[in-house]
Amino acid sequence: MGLTGFFLITFLIVHCGLNSMIFFNDGGQTFNHWAQFMGDNLIIRTMEIGLFLFLLLHVIQGIILWRQNASARPVKYVVNHPEANSKWYSRSMGLLGTLILLFLVVHLYHFWTPSRFGGIGSIEPLEEASLSVYNNQEVHNLYAAMQTVFKNSLVIVIIYIAGVISLCWHLLHGFQSAFQTFGINHKRYTPFIKGLGVFYSIVICLLFALMPIAIYLNWIN
Ligand code: HEM
Repeated sequence: MGLTGFFLITFLIVHCGLNSMIFFNDGGQTFNHWAQFMGDNLIIRTMEIGLFLFLLLHVIQGIILWRQNASARPVKYVVNHPEANSKWYSRSMGLLGTLILLFLVVHLYHFWTPSRFGGIGSIEPLEEASLSVYNNQEVHNLYAAMQTVFKNSLVIVIIYIAGVISLCWHLLHGFQSAFQTFGINHKRYTPFIKGLGVFYSIVICLLFALMPIAIYLNWIN
């Protein structure tokens, strides 16, 4: 779980960094250019296959771990105060992971399927605005796709914010837990790793949450 977790943590940095280019507020020029570069790059496309395999593996490992935990203590404690030595989100990783998975189904339907398979599950205006010109080159206008998805639906914006909040709780435990899995647990370094995990989770999720909010509220056009 630690290894697949590290891979997904790295993916989120790249994904969030790339998407944050929409905040340049230049009509999506810079974002579309780099999104196209990533889409055309053979190494990135190969890693995309790895990403989906790792995601699947992470889910399967999670289910196995959850079942092992459940069968290790089939008879519940009579007195149990889990809050005394663990955070609720560390005990709810399965629930949070399931919410993220549900969010991902909606999310991939919005952006990934139309951009990869040209129109499956795509939304009307996306078809018209699917190409834009950048540096005399035609690029897929994923920025227009974002505008289409977020501009007119508060419900979708709320679904995204809920998905990102679930992700934030999941990462708050998952980040330091991945280090723990590799035996990196040291009096001196662990507080730093925990702090870095909190910083990472909050910054990544805040930036992700700001994307639908900024588009819906017309902060960026
Ligand atoms: C909330 C703000 C987010 C926005 C605006 C956004 C936007 C996008 C866009 C435009 C794509 C298509 C990229 C392409 O086809 O080249 C994409 C793909 C993807 N997103 Fe997001 N995303 C967001 C959050 C997330 C989160 C929180 C996760 C994970 C938990 C995630 C996971 C993915 C995955 C797995 C793909 C497909 C992989 C790929 O294209 O390489 N996204 N996203």
